[in-house]
Amino acid sequence: MPRIFTPEYWRDRLERALRSGRNCLHHSIYVCPVDRWFRLENKHRAILNRVIHPKASVIDCGCSYGRILGLLTPQWESKYLGVDLSPDFIELANRLYSNRPKDAQQFILGDLRDLHDQQYKEFDWAIISSVRLQVKREAGSEEWWKIEREIRRVAKRLLYLEYDERDEGSVE
Ligand SMILES: C[S@@+](CC[C@H](N)C(=O)[O-])C[C@H]1O[C@@H](n2cnc3c(N)ncnc32)[C@H](O)[C@@H]1O
Repeated sequence: MPRIFTPEYWRDRLERALRSGRNCLHHSIYVCPVDRWFRLENKHRAILNRVIHPKASVIDCGCSYGRILGLLTPQWESKYLGVDLSPDFIELANRLYSNRPKDAQQFILGDLRDLHDQQYKEFDWAIISSVRLQVKREAGSEEWWKIEREIRRVAKRLLYLEYDERDEGSVE
């Protein structure tokens, strides 16, 4: 099993990030200096708010601790489902967003390689932030295609983001 698909891999990363102190939570998903991280967050926020209509429903594929939900505009008011294979990330996301209404915005444990459950049906957008390149690199293209096929089945449109500062996001 590729390590990227194991909860233990993400638990180690999360524990290390939490140990390294304030403003380091992002190290659980990407290690870079804080100022660079904030530039990246601003860029992702701008792309998300340009592309995702406030009434569009969203599935956040590989949501980790729910970073993307925090970047959607305060005017955004539709259904959000964050999916991740790491129970530690899902628990943390639920804690970080505990003040939000649970009926519209949910984080659940799941594997993007199999989205046959009813709860994954019919989203306007799938947001895929920094998952595609990492899966391709660490698990291979075949594994990625399995995931992409599943995502295309449950969402009408796909928004890809990566952590490269030059990345402008791509829409399919
Ligand atoms: C680099 S992080 C990106 C996190 C988040 N999308 C963001 O940009 O803030 C990759 C995430 O994808 C999740 N992931 C990787 N493969 C997955 C799979 N097959 N099913 C569900 N989640 C997966 C990992 O657990 C991890 O949280």
